[in-house]
Amino acid sequence: MSESSQINQAQKEPSQQPPPDPMAVCPVGLDDGYAYTKVALADGRLFSVPSRARIGAAGVTWIRAQEQRIFEYETGGAIYSVGAVDGEETSFDEYPGSALNRVIVQHALQEAGLSGRSVHLVTGLPVGAYYRNDGQLRQGGIDQKRDSLKLTVDPRSAVRGRQQPTLKVSVAFHEVIPEALAAWYDHVIVQQADGVTLDADRLSAPIAIVDIGGRTTDYVVVQDQGIVHGSSGSLNRGMLHLKSRVADRVQEQFDLTGLGEQSIARAVDRQQLRLHGRDHDISTLVATAKRELVELLYGETRRKLGLGAELDQVLFVGGGSAALAADIGNWFPNQIIADHAAFANARGMLKYLQFVCDDVERGF
Ligand SMILES: Nc1ncnc2c1ncn2[C@@H]1O[C@H](COP(=O)(O)OP(=O)(O)OP(=O)(O)O)[C@@H](O)[C@H]1O
Ligand SMILES: [Mg+2]
Repeated sequence: MSESSQINQAQKEPSQQPPPDPMAVCPVGLDDGYAYTKVALADGRLFSVPSRARIGAAGVTWIRAQEQRIFEYETGGAIYSVGAVDGEETSFDEYPGSALNRVIVQHALQEAGLSGRSVHLVTGLPVGAYYRNDGQLRQGGIDQKRDSLKLTVDPRSAVRGRQQPTLKVSVAFHEVIPEALAAWYDHVIVQQADGVTLDADRLSAPIAIVDIGGRTTDYVVVQDQGIVHGSSGSLNRGMLHLKSRVADRVQEQFDLTGLGEQSIARAVDRQQLRLHGRDHDISTLVATAKRELVELLYGETRRKLGLGAELDQVLFVGGGSAALAADIGNWFPNQIIADHAAFANARGMLKYLQFVCDDVERGF
């Protein structure tokens, strides 16, 4: 996938659809992960932006407005730059309720074309941040996240390619669900041309969802429509660890003191490190870091799910499942990798909002 991307899963092309009513509330599934923030819209379009921002103004004047790649937002009296910046570390426990998260979410909503709109949102928290080991809710963290995204974020610069001023997206309703469970909703709520159905076979089948993300890998086992907490939870390991392992090794091998976060991310994607205008092959280094991560994930998956003999299916989701598809292909005989795996949670969050959330709570 490219850095910022849009995928169109609409059954009809947007141009064939009637233009959206600008006054209507827009339902949005939003998976605001530690690595990427993914947006699912009701017309089938999917967007993602890197979860990359830092405090302070951009310090760049764009010679051509269309080329603007850094956007400024203000929240809680502080200015943040979002987009093509060397992002501040998102891998801290309070990130989901932080101002850093808030500005990245606002940017993702702007990139999805929702400037000036009022939205109803469902977002997520890693399973381990949502439930305690005994299954009790971590209500403090859930409330903090729910309230944080309702706070105002004001855009300070125009959105790419648009002449009119950028208007803030306001959040009128926000519900938080466990991330990997969102992928289960995506799996069991099936939308077809003639309507929406709950797939009875999928609903009753014992299934494990493994969500390989940036900072976390989430496990959820659902049986008889209940979450089996003993086999569910979060491991604090994901694709961002691969990036930091590569960063450490690159520093060592090339005797560098510091390298920007964007340069490292690019180097991992391209397996080439560009220094002083020259490319250096780092594929061996990336392969070693990847092997280490895969081994670690394999161990934890076996600990959580065993051989999975009692599970009808193991569903892999998250951007990491797509990125590591070749390395995790034979872990279970009954495994599948979800379609557009990085967006499974966002799609499920949207379905949860549209078909599970209480209309009264949403003010309808
Ligand atoms: N749009 C994208 N472009 C490029 N790579 C991507 C994209 N989306 C996901 N990936 C790859 O998958 C990894 C994990 O992405 P994912 O979006 O699942 O993480 P996340 O949900 O942000 O993290 P977490 O679940 O830990 O909060 C990324 O670090 C990257 O390697
Ligand atoms: Mg995720």
